[in-house]
Amino acid sequence: MHIIRRPDWHLPESAVTPEPVWRARRRLLAAGAGALAMAALPGTAARAEEGPAPFSPLPARNPDFADAGRAVTEERLNASYNNFYEFGSSKAISGAARRLVTDPWSVRIDGLVARERTVALEDLLKAMPLEERIYRHRCVEAWSMVVPWIGFPLAALVAWAEPLSSARFVRFETFLDPDVAPGQRQHWYPWPYVEGVTIEEAANPLPLMVVGAYGKMLHNAMGAPLRLHLPWKYGFKSIKSIVRVSFTDTRPVGFWEELQGNEYGFWANVNPDVPHPRWSQRTERVLGTDEVVPTVIYNGYGPQVAHLYRGREEGREIWF
Ligand code: MTE
Repeated sequence: MHIIRRPDWHLPESAVTPEPVWRARRRLLAAGAGALAMAALPGTAARAEEGPAPFSPLPARNPDFADAGRAVTEERLNASYNNFYEFGSSKAISGAARRLVTDPWSVRIDGLVARERTVALEDLLKAMPLEERIYRHRCVEAWSMVVPWIGFPLAALVAWAEPLSSARFVRFETFLDPDVAPGQRQHWYPWPYVEGVTIEEAANPLPLMVVGAYGKMLHNAMGAPLRLHLPWKYGFKSIKSIVRVSFTDTRPVGFWEELQGNEYGFWANVNPDVPHPRWSQRTERVLGTDEVVPTVIYNGYGPQVAHLYRGREEGREIWF
């Protein structure tokens, strides 16, 4: 998010060939089909374009979130324009993100809970109520999308985890594997990516733990196999590829807060009246259209969440 501290030896993302591509190329070369190998590469790309497997059975759409007031952003665009710094600092990380192996996947539940445990994602999903919700998604960089997510309420995970009464925050952590994620070799970032919410925010019905989108399993670039989406907060709070959920009495310090605390804080609730220190938040570019529209407080989800912050609207605290 516009914080670029690259040493001289930094490799541009375009110089990194996705593993499935170089493996396929190597196999073909080994078979003595040098010329053919180059011809075969577009085919590799075409197969990858088909995207993840369909979600089966497809969960029902929640009627309360069936219409986000704007057209759903094209899947092709959403799957190719991403912030996922583990795979690079450009938006074009979808090729690199295909390296991440998302099956099997497990999640560690720990901290202030009745019982710490590690659960396989497939087992967790058997215990969670899956549904589809169409949500607006507003990045702090002043662009937005509309996404038909498939997932389960974070509130259901909180209830399942049985937090102790001393738990005041929920902290999320992304995988850490610099062999797979070249961005994690950039030591000036505070890996792994971490984010957090208060226990009250986590218990609100809006936050969704996402495992699919567009009727399919989640694209790796979108944070497969398990990410969070907090539709009333700036997008950086919506952490991807989660491996750990911890319950704590200490406010977690997020990845961006750790890096640049005066620009990206803990709360990060959308507010057009509070500018980012380096740009306005008044409007947003609706990706996939020519439109620039006014940004709405709490990204339009005020009726569901404003009560969480009542009495604290003055100043900057809850907006950063
Ligand atoms: N989670 C991880 N682990 N790494 C990231 O770089 N980027 C964040 C958030 N979650 C990020 C992340 C930011 S800045 C945004 S805007 C959203 O993911 C982007 O989600 P999208 O690519 O699905 O639009």
